[in-house]
Order: sequence, then structure tokens, then C-alpha cells
Amino acid sequence: MTKKRILTGDRPTGQMHLGHYVGTLENRIRLQDEYECFFIVADLHTLTTQPEKDSIGQIKENIMQMMLDYLAVGIDPEESTIFLQSAVRETYELNLIFEMLVTVPRMERVPSLKEMAQAANLERMPFGLLGYPILQAADILLPRANLVPVGRDNEAHVEVTREIARRFNNLYGEVFPIPDVMIGNVPTLVGTDGQAKMSKSLNNSIFLADDTETVDKKVRGMFTDPNRVSADIPGRVEGNPVFIYHDAFNPDLEEVEDLKARYSKGKVGDVEVKQKLTKAINDFLDPIRERRVTFEKDMKQVEEYLIEGTKRMRKEAEETMGLVRDAMGMYRPM
Ligand code: TRP
Repeated sequence: MTKKRILTGDRPTGQMHLGHYVGTLENRIRLQDEYECFFIVADLHTLTTQPEKDSIGQIKENIMQMMLDYLAVGIDPEESTIFLQSAVRETYELNLIFEMLVTVPRMERVPSLKEMAQAANLERMPFGLLGYPILQAADILLPRANLVPVGRDNEAHVEVTREIARRFNNLYGEVFPIPDVMIGNVPTLVGTDGQAKMSKSLNNSIFLADDTETVDKKVRGMFTDPNRVSADIPGRVEGNPVFIYHDAFNPDLEEVEDLKARYSKGKVGDVEVKQKLTKAINDFLDPIRERRVTFEKDMKQVEEYLIEGTKRMRKEAEETMGLVRDAMGMYRPM
């Protein structure tokens, strides 16, 4: 029986953090054997907000970091296909065809796009940014994926993909599956500062590549219950970032329950709660760090994985575009 397919991926904008892990990376690793997986390095998507030459100049370094993050968390490049979006020409081709199947008002209703424009200090919406979810639909449907594990912020984009797939199939015949979205265990991880979302640009992230001292420092500086000025005051567990992280990363459930109970009675200091959290996060990151060190020794090989994956993806893309053209019945004299 042929396996169902996953397509997901990330823009190469820098280091990946714990939020990425619980939002999507964890699902990818868990499902890697069960599904045939395609992981996209979405460099074209970075152009939607950062088309400047300087930014483009940083993409290669970012891609290499992202590859290391992927490999370090356990994505197996022999088993799964990691590929470079801009090097697969059919992406641009399918994107244009899909643009005909969506309306401007529909795109204007995708909430994340306005937020992205704002975050990038863009006064007006670039045409390409408005089309961000359409390009993403081309990514997802090019390998005819069935499942898309992403963070909550991408849920609305996958909904656009589903609409496009349905519309295409209605107009031209069944070519595409209607892909399901899958959101991680912790859909949106809070930042170390207590802000709603861990995000590189907010400076509230713990990176997968952070060393033990950095984790220690970041955890010590974490936002907890601001009303708790001393250890004997009962504290709030609910919504407290320190406990959200304990729940996400500390496998010792008894320890976590004990800390919570004592915290809400004013019987434990922040220091102890944080020390135990530091240990849990470092234990969690240790195997990831080890694998990173191994892969880092041979960056040529890391690049080779991307090249090989891109070649594999090109074959898939050609096949899908053949089906698309046949279904549409476009005139092609040569
Ligand atoms: N939009 C994703 C992000 O936020 C990146 C991405 C591009 C993606 N194409 C995709 C994710 C296809 C899942 C499927 O970085």
C-alpha cells in the first residue's frame, strides 16, 4: 500500500525554537515513518516581506541553520525529502494557475497577512504577500499532500489550500486530495516574557541550538506570576509560562504536579521551579545538540541532502504538472 503524504516546512528566516518544536516539528518526527514526507525550505515566501538584496544574501546561511535544526530534531534525510522551493520551477507555474481560482476579497480576509505586513513595517500590502497562501497551496498540492502539520498561525493558509484544491477538482476533474491540517500539542507556545507567542523577532525565544548556559539564563529571566513578590505567597499556575513549559517539556509528571501544588500554596520559590525547568529543557535539548554537532562537521553533506531532496521533488512536481495540464486541457503544440 502506498503511504499518504505530508508536506510542510518553514521560511528560512533564522534559528528554530521550542515553539516550532511543539507546534509542528514534533508531529513531523512522529509521523515520518507512517507518511511519505516532503519538507519545504520556503525561500520564495521570505521574499513576500523581505525582497531586498541584503536579505536574500542571508538566505543561504539561514537555510543551513534550518537544515541543521531539521536534522538535529530527527528528520531523516534518507527517508524524507527536504527540498528548496525556489529550485522547483513547477512551484511558480502551479502558483499562477491557482491565482485564477481565488478572489482578492478572499485573500484580504486571511488575518495573518495583515499582521505580517505590519510586522515588516510595510505600509501597503505587496501583491505577492496577498498571494502568500496561494503560493503555499502550490507547495502543498505539488506533491499532492494529504496532511499538513503546522502551527496555529498557518491554519488559515491550509484552509485556502483546501478551497483551491476543491475548486480545481470541480473545474477540471479530481487531481488533488483535499489536505487535512494538523496542529501540534501546544498550538501556540508563550514566549519567555509571557507574551502570547514565542517568536524570534520578539526576543522571547529559547532556540533549539541554545547551549545549557543560555537556557539557564533565559529560564532565570522568565516571566512568572507578577503578583508573587515572595515565595510564601500563593501563586498562579494557570497561564504561568513556567508551568506551561513544565507541562510541555518536563517528562517527570509527578515532579510537575508537586511543584504546581506547592506553588499554589506558597510553598516553593520561583528559583526551585525554574531550576527544575532548566534541567528539563536541557535534558530535552541534549540529544538534539548531540545530533547537531555530528551533522555540523560535514556541511557539504548537509547541502547534499538538500540537493538530493530537491531532485526528488522535481520529479514529483513534473508528474503533477502533467496531470494538471491534462486535466485543464491547455493547448500545447510543442
Ligand atoms: N507559511 C509557513 C511559515 O509560516 C512556511 C510554508 C511555506 C509552509 N509553504 C508551506 C508550511 C507549505 C506548510 C506547508 O513559515
